[in-house]
This record gives sequence, C-alpha cells and structure tokens, in this order.
Amino acid sequence: MQKITKAIIPAAGFGTRFLPATKSQPKEMLPVVDKPTIQYIVEEAVESGIEDILIIIGRYKSVIEDHFDRSVELEMELEKKGKYDMLEQIQDIAGMANIQFVRQKTALGLGHAVYCAKNFIGNEPFAVMLGDDIVDSPGYPCLKQMMDLYEREQCSILGVKEVAREDISKYGIVDGDKISDGLYTVRSLVEKPKPDVAPSNVAIMGRYIITPAVFDILEKTAPGAGNEIQLTDALKTLALKEKMLAYAFKGRRHDVGDKLGFLEATVEFALQRDNLRDDFLDYLEGIVKTYRG
Ligand code: UTP
Repeated sequence: MQKITKAIIPAAGFGTRFLPATKSQPKEMLPVVDKPTIQYIVEEAVESGIEDILIIIGRYKSVIEDHFDRSVELEMELEKKGKYDMLEQIQDIAGMANIQFVRQKTALGLGHAVYCAKNFIGNEPFAVMLGDDIVDSPGYPCLKQMMDLYEREQCSILGVKEVAREDISKYGIVDGDKISDGLYTVRSLVEKPKPDVAPSNVAIMGRYIITPAVFDILEKTAPGAGNEIQLTDALKTLALKEKMLAYAFKGRRHDVGDKLGFLEATVEFALQRDNLRDDFLDYLEGIVKTYRG
C-alpha cells in the first residue's frame, strides 16, 4: 500500500484578480493577519504528515524562496533585542519541512504547473495544494482528512464543496454520483461550466490527491478553458481510466486570490487570535453600524 509523503504547491500564476498588489509580488505572499498565505498552506501540509514539498514558482517569486530560508541577520537582530519568541518563530519557518522549488518558466496553466513536478514526484501518489487556497480546519487539517481517505480507498481524490448556483462557473465541476454524505464518485469533470449546463454544484476546491498516471496524460493535454493547460482536463481523462472520488472536506475554505475571499480570511483569522479578538470585535461592531447607518 502506498502512502502520500509529497505535496506540490503551485504558486506561479499571475494573480490578475489581485492587481496591482500582485504586479511584483506573488499573491501567495499576501499576508493574512501576520503570516503569508503560503505559510498557512505549508503548515497544513506539515500537520498532515507530508515530508517533502515542492513549490512551483514563477517570475518575481523568489521572495517565496526567501521566506522559507534562514534569515541570519534578522535572527541576530532579534537575539540582540531579546525577542526570543519571535526568533523561535522565524527559525521554525525555515525548519518546517523539506521544501524545494522549481520554476514554471511560462504560466501555461495549473496542469502545466503540476507537470513541472514530474521528476520530483516519480511514481508515487501525491498531494496538490493550491497556493492561494487556505482551508481552516483546526485539529483535523483538510489534507490529512483526504490522506486518511486515500489510505482506505487507494485512488485519486478531489477536495470539493457544494457551491451556490451563481458560483458554479468559477470552478471545475464534478459529474458523478453521491455515495454517502460528502462523498461522490467522479465520472467526469467540467471546467467552469455555465450553471444551466453544469452536471452538479459540486466544485473542486484547491486540494487534490492524484495518482502518478496523471503525468502521462498531462503531457498530451492541450490548452483548454482560458487557453490554459487545465489540471481539470487531465483529471477528466484520468477518471476514465481509474477510480476517482470527490470528498467534501470539513473546514472553511478561503480563496485568498479573490479580494472578497482575502478580506473574509483576514477577518476570520484575526477573530481567532486571543490578542486581537476583543478589540477587533468592538471595532467591527462600530464600523458595521457606521456603514449600515
Ligand atoms: P488561479 O487560476 O487561481 O491563479 O490558479 P492565477 O491564474 O494566478 O489567478 P488569476 O485568476 O489570474 O487571479 C490556482 C493556483 O495555480 C497556480 C496559481 O499560482 C494558484 O496558486 N498557477 C496557475 C500556476 O502555478 N501556474 C499557472 O500557470 C497557473
């Protein structure tokens, strides 16, 4: 029986929904309260038991490499000032996991970004975690939920949520049957369909466990929606060849690459911090009254 030990985090997109903030800074580095988005994702991987992480980076993305590297000058400065708590946090980031990087030279799409990890993955099942999707699931990380299911089912698994009709056209949508509460078979997939032709409202949400057979398929996958090489198209072919499941994970998912998603994540994570909650709640109550009138 194979175990999942490797995760890919694609972080080479242009982030056009968040311009101009993402002109020279990756959206994966947008801070939610005080941590860059991608750090939440790496922490989820580590808490789930992942040992090796490959981050797919693009142009202007070397700040991501720097973030997960040692920062000797900063460490000396914190030590000199006696800020030991912060020093420990900064050192922990660099020691979090075995993190490697590869460049996707042209942003040809998510499918192409995953293909860039072919050599790193080899012939094992692996996880894909989108670099701008945070899932807040304290105690039982989203990826761990999916890895536990993989141990039982030994097949590709897509992390999904049911979405409102008006949101269907933003996602890859599952065509399949419900097996039990929150679990579906995957017969086929459609990338960003119009609601009236969509096979369901079960949408793929930034977490995947995929068997290595996907790499041969990706090699032959032509550009699809938006003229990008779509992971969804390759998974659709994989679903014809192998068993595939969709699993509605527990936890709140935030699309930080979307402005509203970013703001929601910021508010919710701030309200979970003991040293911010009370003051921030007072502030929110006041400001809501002012704006609602
Ligand atoms: P998105 O579609 O959300 O990223 O891809 P994008 O294209 O950067 O976003 P917008 O729509 O222009 O705002 C999901 C994930 O896949 C990565 C992105 O960095 C993001 O984490 N991605 C996307 C790549 O790594 N390479 C690509 O060619 C495309």
